[in-house]
Amino acid sequence: MALLWEEFYDRTPRPSNLDENEKLLNNFAKHHIEKNNKIVLITSGGTTVPLEHNTVRFVDNFSAGNRGSISAEYFLDHGYAVIFMHRLKSLEPFSRHFSGHKFLDIMNLTMINDVTSISVAPQYVNKISKILRKYKETLKDNKLLQICFTTLSEYLWLLRSACQALTILENRAILYLAAAVSDFYIPSNEMALHKISSSGAPSIHLQLVPKVLEPLVNLWVSKAFVVSFKLETDENILISKAREALTKYNHNLVIANILQTRKQQVVFVSQENDYILSLTNEQIQNGEEIEKFIVQNLIEKHEIWMRSQKLD
Ligand code: PMT
Repeated sequence: MALLWEEFYDRTPRPSNLDENEKLLNNFAKHHIEKNNKIVLITSGGTTVPLEHNTVRFVDNFSAGNRGSISAEYFLDHGYAVIFMHRLKSLEPFSRHFSGHKFLDIMNLTMINDVTSISVAPQYVNKISKILRKYKETLKDNKLLQICFTTLSEYLWLLRSACQALTILENRAILYLAAAVSDFYIPSNEMALHKISSSGAPSIHLQLVPKVLEPLVNLWVSKAFVVSFKLETDENILISKAREALTKYNHNLVIANILQTRKQQVVFVSQENDYILSLTNEQIQNGEEIEKFIVQNLIEKHEIWMRSQKLD
């Protein structure tokens, strides 16, 4: 059986940099409430579960950070301020366009009279200047706060602090929980201190992680618009699992996706209805990103929901 969420926090050491992150989160939330802006908290990337305190080995959850980093850029386009809470070294907004060798491919190296110069290859100038302009504007307007986690416990501590900072936004906050969060872990007091010996097959006992969506929706940010993601590999159970989560946690929306098709299709599952959002072949060929349509749809829902609350 999983521990109660309160017991999990009681027994899991608080990360040493949490105070610093809480200051950043609180200042960001205050700044944007004064500006009358809306904020989205995006979680992105997978959490790790260490097998040793001095960690050499860990269990990881699948997520490259595409969904979160792409969505962050579209939320910024729609005027939202973004808290991007991501796995260290997973994809980030703006820099995602230059990850890996792409970064080197866009540059030209020339040498004239012993003077070396580096420039952007002409065919990339348009694309890069567009991205760079948006990035600089985002920085100037203080619209993006990036904070990172690696382990499951860092994620869960940060998530709670981020929610607490967002309470002052009330219904102007969206939570967009796209990170892939481990359901199993080894409690701190049961974890080996040093690298597990390979002299024999180890016996590793993982325990269930309490689902924090429940306190998140009911206690931490009870006035925010909460969106969770559901990832499955078997399409026969996808919608029933998504609906189960919606009923259990009573939040606003579950976005369901299948691992293999997640970049082309998702299903919006809400109290009112289910519908599929998918890219056409033409859109795929034109390099369109499904996150553009996810974010557009979501913002419409958020607007309608905020208006309906004013009427109550
Ligand atoms: O980054 P990409 O490579 O683009 O991939 C994107 C994605 C496929 C990872 C993303 O679209 C996605 O589906 N993310 C959610 C995957 C997931 O972990 O689902 P889950 O069934 O484990 O969790 C469901 C929800 O419960 C999540 O919103 C999570 O925040 C929440 N949860 C999970 C564990 C936990 N202890 N407490 C929770 O509240």
